[in-house]
Amino acid sequence: MKRICILPGDGIGPEVVGCAVSVLEAVAPGLELLHADIGQSAQIGHHSYLPDETIELMRTCDSTLFGAVTSSTDPEYTSPVLAFRKSLDLYANVRPVKSLVKNISRSAVDIVIVRENSEGLYHQQETVDAEGVTTYRRVTRRGCERIVDFAVEHARRRKRHKVCCVHKANVLRQSDALFLDVFRERMANAPDLESRDQLVDSAAMFLVTDPSRFDVMVTLNLYGDILSDVAAGVAGGLGFAPSGNIGPKHSVFEPAHGSAPDIAGKGVANPTATILAAAMMLDHIGMSHEAKDVEAAVSGAYSSGHLTVDLGGRHGSRSFTDHVIERLRA
Ligand code: NAI
Ligand code: MG
Repeated sequence: MKRICILPGDGIGPEVVGCAVSVLEAVAPGLELLHADIGQSAQIGHHSYLPDETIELMRTCDSTLFGAVTSSTDPEYTSPVLAFRKSLDLYANVRPVKSLVKNISRSAVDIVIVRENSEGLYHQQETVDAEGVTTYRRVTRRGCERIVDFAVEHARRRKRHKVCCVHKANVLRQSDALFLDVFRERMANAPDLESRDQLVDSAAMFLVTDPSRFDVMVTLNLYGDILSDVAAGVAGGLGFAPSGNIGPKHSVFEPAHGSAPDIAGKGVANPTATILAAAMMLDHIGMSHEAKDVEAAVSGAYSSGHLTVDLGGRHGSRSFTDHVIERLRA
């Protein structure tokens, strides 16, 4: 029996994870779901934003489904998300974004952003001096190679045909140029895939005006973080972007969004990103039939007009989830 660690977290985290757990229980009743604490709730109960028991459970489970945490202004605060990504060596962040509803004012998007998840500006090393702060940004050849290789493999497995490297090598002439060089080297051995590169600023514009230019995007940590929210916005909002953090041994699936304190507790958070993250997790642990069933139930719900509140529809988190489960059972 596969064991899944469930980390609801803060804000809307418990609401959207609760919805995704109901979907998992309906589609894969054989999974063992083990809940643990992370974020503010863990700090209250365990005096740690990422308790040892939690990271140990994540390490011993087949995968983890995570909601979101609310960051703290406490000077001692360190992000539990960056901590588990580092500790479990989750170097690749995969963020598929697909429009599920037609919207005449926005172009349809269907892309996968593959984001380097372990270095770049998220190295969290900053030094303070009298004049200001210097932030250390790390780009290694190995980091670039493994993320580009991951993107190539992902594109082939998903039958996608184009890979675009998104960078800022015109300004960051050492670090981003290294990334671009590695991309070109690796793509020279992938003649089955169309290879392109794009500066990150114009890539952001094209994501909004003409997202069909892109298929798989491979990019560095901060760029991927920002561009995946842009892509989610084009698809209808942050409730539409699932995310998988993947490493050689471990994996954690989550919505790309945060804890949304502005809507927490109101029952209106869109659970789609978290339900689709659960589907990505099922696929990752070898349950691809169940994963496809969940994806079909979610897209069927939207195409038949069952819209969530963020799209101007009537469905709150729970009633949308109940409808998805009805479709799964039908
Ligand atoms: P956010 O993603 O939480 O929310 C941005 C906007 O999108 C808000 O207006 C929110 O209501 C809306 N939104 C987000 N998810 C939604 C959903 N499922 N359905 C409907 N609307 C949704 O980002 P924000 O406001 O910048 O950050 C809030 C907190 O979340 C901060 O403490 C931040 O540090 C944390 N955060 C945590 C992340 C994680 O745990 N992986 C990732 C990003 C932010
Ligand atoms: Mg983000």
